[in-house]
Parts: sequence; C-alpha cells; structure tokens
Amino acid sequence: MLHQQLTPFPQNFLWGASTSAYQFEGAWNLDGKGPSVIDMANHVEGVTDFKVASDHYHKYKEDIALMAEMGMKAYRFSISWSRIYPQGAGELNPKGIQFYNDLIDELLKYKIEPIVTMYHFDLPYALEQQGGWSNRSTVDAFEQYARTLFQHFGDRVKYWLTINEQNMLILHPGSIGTLNDQMADPQKELYQQNHHMLVAQAKAMSLCHQILPQAKIGPAPNIGVIYPASSKPEDTLAADNYAAIRNWLYLDMAVYGRYNHIAWSYLLEKGYAPIIEDGDMDILAAGKPDFIAFNYYTSQTVGESLNDGNDFSHTGDQHEIVGEPGAYRGSVNPHLQKTEFGWEIDPVGFRSTLRQIYSRYRLPLIVTENGLGAFDKLEEDGTVNDPYRIEFFRKHIEQIQLAITDGVEVFGFCPWSAVDLVSTHQGSSKRYGFIYVDREEFDLKDLLRIRKHSFYWYQQLIQTNGQSL
Ligand code: BG6
Repeated sequence: MLHQQLTPFPQNFLWGASTSAYQFEGAWNLDGKGPSVIDMANHVEGVTDFKVASDHYHKYKEDIALMAEMGMKAYRFSISWSRIYPQGAGELNPKGIQFYNDLIDELLKYKIEPIVTMYHFDLPYALEQQGGWSNRSTVDAFEQYARTLFQHFGDRVKYWLTINEQNMLILHPGSIGTLNDQMADPQKELYQQNHHMLVAQAKAMSLCHQILPQAKIGPAPNIGVIYPASSKPEDTLAADNYAAIRNWLYLDMAVYGRYNHIAWSYLLEKGYAPIIEDGDMDILAAGKPDFIAFNYYTSQTVGESLNDGNDFSHTGDQHEIVGEPGAYRGSVNPHLQKTEFGWEIDPVGFRSTLRQIYSRYRLPLIVTENGLGAFDKLEEDGTVNDPYRIEFFRKHIEQIQLAITDGVEVFGFCPWSAVDLVSTHQGSSKRYGFIYVDREEFDLKDLLRIRKHSFYWYQQLIQTNGQSL
C-alpha cells in the first residue's frame, strides 16, 4: 500500500538498542559466576571466545553513559542465569544480584527503561550436565530463576522477555553451539527440549503476572516473512510449511497456548512430536504475553521440496541453512542484496513481518534485534565511518513507520547492538554496534569505546522521534 501521509512514531516510542550477557559482559568466571554452555562449548576455529568479550562487566558505567548520550530511551540486555545461580538452581550468588542491581540503577539514573531478557542462549552448564532442556527439571530451575528475577528486580524492571530466539535454539543449535553430540535422535530430542522451554516460558509469564501485576512480559523469537520461491502453488504450500515450523509454532504457543496445526502435523509426520505431560496444556494456555518482542534480520525464501537430496541448499550463510525433505527446500531470493557475511537484506520484508505478526495476534510489538554485521574499520584519525549501517537502519526504520501507518502497533525498536560485542559464531571482528570497541579478534588492546558515525545518526533520529529519517 502506498501512503500519501505517514503516521508519526508514537510519543514515548522506546528507541533503544540491545546486547546479551555472554556476548558483552566478559567476566565469565568472576565474582561467583558459574560456567554456561557457551563458556564450555567448542568454539569456532579462528575466532575469539566469550571470556572477556567487551568487558562490559567492568565498564558498564561508561557504556551506559554513552547510551544516555546517544539518547536511548530503552536498553535491552540479558541476565546471565549462571551469574545468578552458578549451578542453575539452588544457591543464589549475591554478587550476581548486586551486579544487575547496579546496572539497573545506573540505567534509571539516566531514565533509560531496562528491558530484560531472562535467558539468551547461555544455559548454566551445571544444568546441561544433567541433560539441559531435555531434562524436565530444567523447567523447575527456570521457574525458580524467574521468581528470583521478579523478586529482586521487579520493583524497577517493567518489561521482561522470556527466552531469546527459542526457534533458533531449536533450528540452528549447531551454529549457536548448543547442539549436544550425545543426542541419539537430535531432532526428536530438540523438539522435546522445545516443549519444555514452551512450558517454562508459560510458567514464567503466569508468575510474572502474579508477582508483578504492573509488569509486562513477552516472548522474543526470531521472526521473518517466508516467501515462496515462485508463484507455483506448491511453492506457496512449502512457504506455509516453513512459516509454521519456523515462526508460528513459537508465537501460536506463546499467545494461544496451543501447537500450530501445520507445525504439529509436521512433528507427527517426522516422528518428532514431544511427550506432553498431564497438565502441560493447561499451563500453556494459562501463560499469556502482554506484547510480542521479535528479532528481525532477514526474510527467507523456500520452494517445494523435491526430495532429490538437494533440499538443504542455503541462502549464503551457514546460520541460515534451510530445507527439509518433504516440507520445503531452501532457495536464494534473486531480488535481495547480501551483507558481507552473506545475510540477505530485506527492509520491505520487515514491514511484511510486522504486518503478519500483528494481523495474527493483535498484540503490541517491539523489535528487540535488527542490525548489520560488518568489518568496521577504525581510521587513523580515530573515527569509524559506517555509512552502510546508517543506510541499513534508515531503510528498516522507514519500513517500521510504514507498518505503523498500516495500523501495526509498534512501541519500540532495540537494534543489535548498542555497543560492539562478540558475534554468536563469527567472533568480534563481525561488528554490530553504534559504539566501537577497540579490540581485535585475539588482541584485547585497550577495549576503548569510540562513537561510530552511526552513533551520531541514531542520536539525531532519537532526538527528532524518527523525523530526521
Ligand atoms: C541473533 C542473536 O540470532 O542474532 C544474537 O539473538 C546474535 O545473539 C545476532 O548475535 C546476530 O548473529 P551473529 O551470528 O552475527 O552474532
């Protein structure tokens, strides 16, 4: 739809930015923190681990001062579960509580709204050793952890996100480093884990409403529109299949408390259907989100599965391998350009994604990740010129405004990432931040913070509530 006039961004729109604990904090074994699965995973060769990352643990005051200078109204960060409970459950680590208390207070000092992700990929290793999400008792550990977070931080934190990108944990566990090679039947086990996480999430949402009636909570999957590779009807069916398996399984469960029927028929067909215990469906139906948070990086394109052994073709990046015999086949979209890391760039797909989610669920939306990974360069004069990032954000934010004009209720935008951090599987040279961190892959240098050109651009955008686009 072409609009003659655009609806302005709402007053109080939460212009922000995001990070996650293991990618940003460092201090992986300090002050009582227990190891997480990320700390213990085999790291990709040639890239750094997460032990120091951007050392935010020691530099949080400086980082938050810079976020405030950029004008951020909100900051989405994650809490490291094993900093709070070093063994995943049981004994609490007071220094972990202290760190996040200090962080939250520092944000509030600058009137920055904290948006807390409770779990962003970094399951405590002690739980993993007992089977991780395959073990039903991890649901109880998450419930205890959730209660602790609500009790300690709920007086100041109004917005909670349950699990970051649960769908990527299930669909790409290899790239995230969470695939356990002991699994006898990985797909079946992953969908059992998925079910346990869905139950854990529902319990956390109910608990949040019970303990903190003023707070708001929602899921945070990675959602992107799925295009059919052509107008061939079978390609559209394949796109429906993949959208159900990748997107709607997660959101239908979070919002309606039931399995999406196409995804469920896929799970039955493949033999992946999880064991559902008595009472689970009641728990799932009772946990309701107040909003939907989602991460958007790109769309995906799939065609009909041809069952010829090539269904697993991919779109350019190992993170995004798609295709499954009998369901859908990965395809490259010829209309899209790619980032230097091979991710397709699709701002218009962002608008479609916003429209699709809102039409299905009619809940307020907040974007909790969107961004461009690039090899930024620190110039000799000390500047970092990143016009490609500005261009990326300009085009994506334009589409948010168009979606708002389409009637979609969007209350915030927290792109990835506030400050440079370590990529999930591609090291610290793949940068996303508005603020540069002076370190190299294996040389930590001085970890100095430097404002990129995009910092000033975003500052201006926030100041004008989006009008300077
Ligand atoms: C999302 C994750 O999948 O994408 C982040 O929530 C991640 O943790 C981001 O960093 C970008 O992916 P990558 O692989 O470039 O770090």
